[in-house]
Amino acid sequence: CGIRRYKFNVVMTTMTRLCSSKPIVTINGRFPGPTIYATEDDTLLIKVVNHVNYNMSIHWHGIKQFRTGWADGPAYITQCPIQPRQSYVYNFTVSGQRGTLLWHAHILWLRATVHGAIVIMPKIGLPYPFPKPHKEVVVILGEWWKLDVEAVVDAAMESGLAPDVSDAYTINGHPGLISNCLSQGGFNLAVEPGKTYMLRIINAALNEELFLKIAGHKFTVVEVDAVYVKPFITDTVLVAPGQTTNALLTADLGTGNYLVAVSPFMDSPITVDNKTAIATLHYTGTLASTGTLLTIPPPRNATPVAAKFSDSLRSLNSKKFPCRVPLNVDHSLLFTISLGLNPCATCRNGFRVVADINNVTFAMPEISLLNSHFFNITGVFTDDFPGNPPTPYNYTGKQPVNLGTMIGTRVYRLGYNSRVQVVLQGTGMIVVENHPIHLHGVNFFVVGRGLGNFNPEEDSKKFNLVDPVERNTVQVPSGGWVAIRFTADNPGVWFLHCHLEVHTTWGLKMAFLVDNGKGPNESVLPPPNDLPKC
Ligand code: C2O
Repeated sequence: CGIRRYKFNVVMTTMTRLCSSKPIVTINGRFPGPTIYATEDDTLLIKVVNHVNYNMSIHWHGIKQFRTGWADGPAYITQCPIQPRQSYVYNFTVSGQRGTLLWHAHILWLRATVHGAIVIMPKIGLPYPFPKPHKEVVVILGEWWKLDVEAVVDAAMESGLAPDVSDAYTINGHPGLISNCLSQGGFNLAVEPGKTYMLRIINAALNEELFLKIAGHKFTVVEVDAVYVKPFITDTVLVAPGQTTNALLTADLGTGNYLVAVSPFMDSPITVDNKTAIATLHYTGTLASTGTLLTIPPPRNATPVAAKFSDSLRSLNSKKFPCRVPLNVDHSLLFTISLGLNPCATCRNGFRVVADINNVTFAMPEISLLNSHFFNITGVFTDDFPGNPPTPYNYTGKQPVNLGTMIGTRVYRLGYNSRVQVVLQGTGMIVVENHPIHLHGVNFFVVGRGLGNFNPEEDSKKFNLVDPVERNTVQVPSGGWVAIRFTADNPGVWFLHCHLEVHTTWGLKMAFLVDNGKGPNESVLPPPNDLPKC
């Protein structure tokens, strides 16, 4: 197995988009940042050198980090940030994983511009379970703000209300033609007639689940979150922030230009003019004068389109790639996911929008949870996170009288190798929204989903325990629930949070603490010497 080294210089770079320029934080001057390539079982040594005045930390989203939580990246969860003029080498092995993932800053809202692709090739002898594509293309979806993103967040913290939404969606860093401000190097997909391409689609947007459509063409989805799925055909791909999808596209129309459109799933709280990102799929040899076939993106809140996509996802569950869903569980948890309102003396409106899991709004500690756990530093967190909502109520019906939440740095403790079921229940407090929930350190299986309140007797009978999709980020439907299962076989502290950055900021996050096992290879490894100081 190989060792691959990368150097990430964190620098300020001036970029022009939507007819205006601003300095942004980048890795090596690039937006999106460099792609990390590896082969399954390789060790990666990525040296991050911080040359900017922000604290930095980088998360390798979807990499399991077996026993190496120190390299996971979420600031104040598994490490303290890399301070200005400091550096840190992320040292980890991509064991038993192959496919497309992403890396991104995991501090403040810096992931708006600090993100990129991770491409893990399968080992020799374990080829793709589908015909090898002619070419592979990384397609990173994102968002662009005309204003400085950190200033947007600071303004929201001061008002207590929602931050401004972005001004455009982007494909590989470019909004496309719709803005009337063509940025150089806009994304174009050149294809040769008859060939098959694999798109490695990544949603690196901060706050929006996105649809991707290409006029006149269909996709065959073969993988999500770096796990193979049973191939299925669709004309629309839905990707939530943090999720990845590998889709095959056959250039079977022979000639012409076709629109590639990226559009939002949910209504944004503030209406913006059409922000759809567009690009062109272009057949080589097509005359420049040929027009472009357009496509109509799904309407906002196209819940049936989203549900159809999610319901089509199944584990490949083949002999070579079996589905290892736990058939029994040791911990059965119910987490309500909601937004609330807390009084706030320093906010302009006297209150602040907050978000919570089981009515607990997570407060970020000042020392990382993993440091505190590993070195037995007391007073940083408590391990009394509630496994059930404090007072059961009609989650998707009437609002409870009290919209306030408890503030706390609380974790839920899991025994090493215990089997866990979590029902994530969306509630109707303030507004119903779809939440993409991400778990660090382990993949989970999506065994069920539905609308309304989860009914333990009825709904659990219908769980899919044969070929549920395995992934690291799953959407909790608006006013509905999703049930996940996983085996807690990775000792450490693992963050669980909404991957809409606005909700994370509001406190929609918690952590699982997985105990060490008894065997020699069942404990958290000691931290590297250059681990940033708190
Ligand atoms: Cu991609 Cu904790 O995030």
